[in-house]
Amino acid sequence: MDQVKRTLILLVPLVFFQTWLHCVALNPTRPCPSKQCKCLPDSKLVNCTGRAMTYIPVLPSYTRVAVFTKTTFPNITAEFLSNLTSLNIRYLSFVDTLTEMLDSNAFVNLTNMTALEISRNYKLSPAMISPMLLLTPRLQSVRLTSNNWQIIPEDMFKGSHSSSIHTVSLSNNAIESINGTYFSSMLNLQTLYLPNNKLSNLNLSGMESTSISYINLNNNNFRRIPSFCGPDGHPTGKYKTLYLQQNDLRDLKASSFQCLQFLRNLYLDRTFIEVLRRNTFVNLVKLQKLSLTHIGNHLSRVEGFAFNSTSLKYLYFLNNGYKFERFPWYYGTMFSSLPNLMLLDLTGNVLPSETDSLRKLFTSLNKLQKLVLQNTALKALPPNVFQHLPNLRSLILIGNYINGWNDDPEVFGNVTSLRSLYLDGNNIKLVNKTSFAEKFLNSLDKFCITNNPFSCTCDLKWFVDWIKSAKNTTIVNYPRRYICRFPPEMNNVLLMDYNPTTEMCLNVNYPLIRNICIAVFVPSTFILIAISVIYKFRFWLNYWLHILGIKRLGYTRTRDDAVYEYDAFVIYSNDNRDFIFGDMVPELEEKGGCRLCIHERDFEVGQYIMDNITRKFEHSKNIILVLSCGFLTSEWCKFELTLTLSKTSQEGPGVLTVILLEELDTARLPSSVRAILDTVSYTKWSVDKVGQNKVWAKVLTALNVHVNHEIDN
Ligand SMILES: *[C@@H]1O[C@H](CO)[C@@H](O)[C@H](O)[C@H]1NC(C)=O
Ligand SMILES: *[C@@H]1O[C@H](CO)[C@@H](O)[C@H](O)[C@H]1NC(C)=O
Ligand SMILES: *[C@@H]1O[C@H](CO)[C@@H](O)[C@H](O)[C@H]1NC(C)=O
Ligand SMILES: *[C@@H]1O[C@H](CO)[C@@H](O)[C@H](O)[C@H]1NC(C)=O
Ligand SMILES: *[C@@H]1O[C@H](CO)[C@@H](O)[C@H](O)[C@H]1NC(C)=O
Ligand SMILES: *[C@@H]1O[C@H](CO)[C@@H](O)[C@H](O)[C@H]1NC(C)=O
Ligand SMILES: *[C@@H]1O[C@H](CO)[C@@H](O)[C@H](O)[C@H]1NC(C)=O
Repeated sequence: MDQVKRTLILLVPLVFFQTWLHCVALNPTRPCPSKQCKCLPDSKLVNCTGRAMTYIPVLPSYTRVAVFTKTTFPNITAEFLSNLTSLNIRYLSFVDTLTEMLDSNAFVNLTNMTALEISRNYKLSPAMISPMLLLTPRLQSVRLTSNNWQIIPEDMFKGSHSSSIHTVSLSNNAIESINGTYFSSMLNLQTLYLPNNKLSNLNLSGMESTSISYINLNNNNFRRIPSFCGPDGHPTGKYKTLYLQQNDLRDLKASSFQCLQFLRNLYLDRTFIEVLRRNTFVNLVKLQKLSLTHIGNHLSRVEGFAFNSTSLKYLYFLNNGYKFERFPWYYGTMFSSLPNLMLLDLTGNVLPSETDSLRKLFTSLNKLQKLVLQNTALKALPPNVFQHLPNLRSLILIGNYINGWNDDPEVFGNVTSLRSLYLDGNNIKLVNKTSFAEKFLNSLDKFCITNNPFSCTCDLKWFVDWIKSAKNTTIVNYPRRYICRFPPEMNNVLLMDYNPTTEMCLNVNYPLIRNICIAVFVPSTFILIAISVIYKFRFWLNYWLHILGIKRLGYTRTRDDAVYEYDAFVIYSNDNRDFIFGDMVPELEEKGGCRLCIHERDFEVGQYIMDNITRKFEHSKNIILVLSCGFLTSEWCKFELTLTLSKTSQEGPGVLTVILLEELDTARLPSSVRAILDTVSYTKWSVDKVGQNKVWAKVLTALNVHVNHEIDN
């Protein structure tokens, strides 16, 4: 057998090649009239177009299908078609050929023609069709569309040869009325296209004698389902497929569907149905496919058991924007009476968000094989739903807001029938082994999870590895549409190019450990850095903190209200301790009766020096600043100096008394000291006793003046 096949495989092209040689080489007189026509030898089709074309040229001998569009063929006669008679024409089409006259004999010589189209010929009277059909043998399919006919002659299809016709299309005319008797002599008529006309009623009596099974009444003016019963109440035909899309149907009742007991496919899309009542379709005992799409603008309610049907296999209820949540009491009965349903497509509706409701909606569909929940606003995968659909093979969850799920056993656990799973265009960042059991994923034939914002971190390693090892599962559109979105540096990287190794992910494979690491290491690093910074700049930090603190505590209270612990706070460098304890304390405290605050003596042990300084500053009425070369190099003194500046700026320069112990190199003075010496009159220390006494007198006066002044007030 194989050898025969192989020989055939070799022979068939050879034969074709020879035929082609025969046609092209031996028939050079019959080339494609390429000026006006396009010839497709493979499909044996010639398509000619152009208003300048006024006759039918000689066409290649392979021509089976000849199409003439926008030509000028006013009178079509047998003589006019004489260049076609030597061809084995099967299909002939005249579209917008400006035809006015169609001779009854026109096609008598085209004995093998089975299909004829005459479209967009607005000047052609439908009355010319009937005599033509009568004399045209073997015709099976007639397309008479877009001719702008309003009335169809009763006898249009009456004639002996009409009996071979099985398909008639009268679409895109302006037909207002049609009767079953028009077709009664067409014993083989199976398919009748009447869409895009102006039909509002239909009497199909007379169709009984035909073999009608398909009738398309889309986009007409029907306000209710037309009657398919004859006068005796019997069906006018064994209709199997009925299209009634885009009609003004508002009210559907079970009684609307009488005499359609053979109907298998019903299309009611884009109609104006307002309510789908319980048991609407029960009279359609053989109904297998029901399409109710794009009816959302008018649809306000779908009752429980609306789709009650023991025969229904395919239900398309899509793009209706229907919010099931509006009638929660119908959840349990919405799809419960569909024991044979194999496909349910609810694309473009709004499903309830609670998993309980979803479970109620779907659980009784025992034969369901394909469930399409595309764009249904699902936020999560419902647990305990899919495992109650024992025959589910295909689950489409494209375009929802699903971002992940944790309890795999509840979602896909025990789901063994599924073969295709589509999760494109959701919000899934992470797929890991708790999302899917590996066994479950391997049992799929097709898995599609494109257009999700993958987070390409080690958490995704399991999935990346699974993709690479998947043998029996086709990963749809991989690698093209699998793109990392996170972390930012991985944005737009193909998932295929993300290859985390075990070593890379060793310590961070488990989010917990990683999180702990992050939680511990990151802050501790920061703390370490902060500590070193604080340590390095401890002085200045404290310094500024205190400046801020002093500002906040404020020296805004007036001196008069204050009760001071000390008459003066003494700022000095440790180099000058001898001066402080040898000269100043005896003179001012013992003789002068002042109370001085001297940090070495008066600071509270254990308190932080900064706090001590500021506290004592607060409780001292005046400041005595002892300036020397050593002072300028002491950091604490600089700090105290800043406090001094702050105090003087708030309470006036009078609070400050400066004793200059030695001459200072003014060029090297810090600006703060220079500022003080510029604004405050200072007293120079003297080596002789007389000078020293003058100094102490001056200082005492300065302190006393303020004290007295305060007492005076
Ligand atoms: C047949 O075709 C030839 C050449 O293409 C043309 O000259 C002739 O007029 C055609 N005959 C008719 C009846 O159109
Ligand atoms: C077409 O046929 C009509 C008669 O039906 C005739 O008067 C007219 O001259 C014909 N036109 C051509 C171009 O043959
Ligand atoms: C019509 O078809 C038959 C066989 O299908 C063929 O023998 C005959 O030649 C064809 N007629 C024409 C005019 O080609
Ligand atoms: C569903 O339809 C059947 C007839 O097909 C009918 O016997 C049954 O009562 C209907 N169920 C409900 C709940 O109306
Ligand atoms: C798996 O992914 C989900 C999110 O999809 C996450 O909540 C869960 O913690 C992950 N489990 C593991 C073990 O990484
Ligand atoms: C899976 O099925 C087994 C037996 O059929 C049952 O015991 C188990 O609870 C089911 N698991 C889930 C998650 O439904
Ligand atoms: C793929 O299918 C073959 C045969 O059907 C099976 O033996 C094999 O275990 C499958 N591989 C995986 C990874 O499931």
